[in-house]
Amino acid sequence: MLAIIGGTGLTEMAGLEVDKRHSAETPLGAASAGVVQGKLRGRDILFLARHGHPHKLPPHRVNYRANLWALKQAGATRIVGINAVGGIDPTLQPEALVVPDQLIDYTTGRESTYFDGRFRPLKHIDFSWPYDNDLRDVLVMAGKQAGETIEDGGVYGCTQGPRLETAAEIARMARDGCRLVGMTGMPEAVLARELSIPYACLALVVNPAAGVVESEITMAEIEAALENGIERVKRIVDALLTS
Ligand code: HPA
Repeated sequence: MLAIIGGTGLTEMAGLEVDKRHSAETPLGAASAGVVQGKLRGRDILFLARHGHPHKLPPHRVNYRANLWALKQAGATRIVGINAVGGIDPTLQPEALVVPDQLIDYTTGRESTYFDGRFRPLKHIDFSWPYDNDLRDVLVMAGKQAGETIEDGGVYGCTQGPRLETAAEIARMARDGCRLVGMTGMPEAVLARELSIPYACLALVVNPAAGVVESEITMAEIEAALENGIERVKRIVDALLTS
């Protein structure tokens, strides 16, 4: 079953006919919310609000291990994470949609594996290509079907937050090859891989990253881009279900 992890601006799926609300409890503690199972456009889907519903958990306090476990428990076989991001590539305007093909993890101190020698025995998994290519293709196709422009590819840099970055940090990330910066892409992607669930990210640009333009980043501009952008994300999710 397809699962959507909704990020900032997407704490519930409008139009979802709810069949079941799964418990948020897992062997790894509580997920951000219970996984909601239901039908959208007649198709079964799972939905999880990454930050809880209502939005309560900052990116560094999300229990990603519990979230991914809860989705697996609920029967997820494919996961699309929706992530609000800053655009490092200056060609990416607010409201642009991107399906990244690579990531760099700049986070620190997050519980980022099941194979830590305590919960499960130590194991080193391959993560050369962090996103599932088939699911990425399906997402890009769904965008086309929905009449939305989606950029295919790019490196997502995941920072710790919750503060935004300095201009120098963004300049360094640009030198590293990052096109996008967000705070929630990791360890979500790696935990999905550890559970062998195909995972892809649909990133919505909500602001130019620090120093990309001269002005400061304001919550007002982020919220405006989120409001319009999330409507486009929803159309893509609809197309994803009917494709
Ligand atoms: N930086 C990090 N995370 C973000 C940003 C940003 O500029 N915008 C939205 N999420």
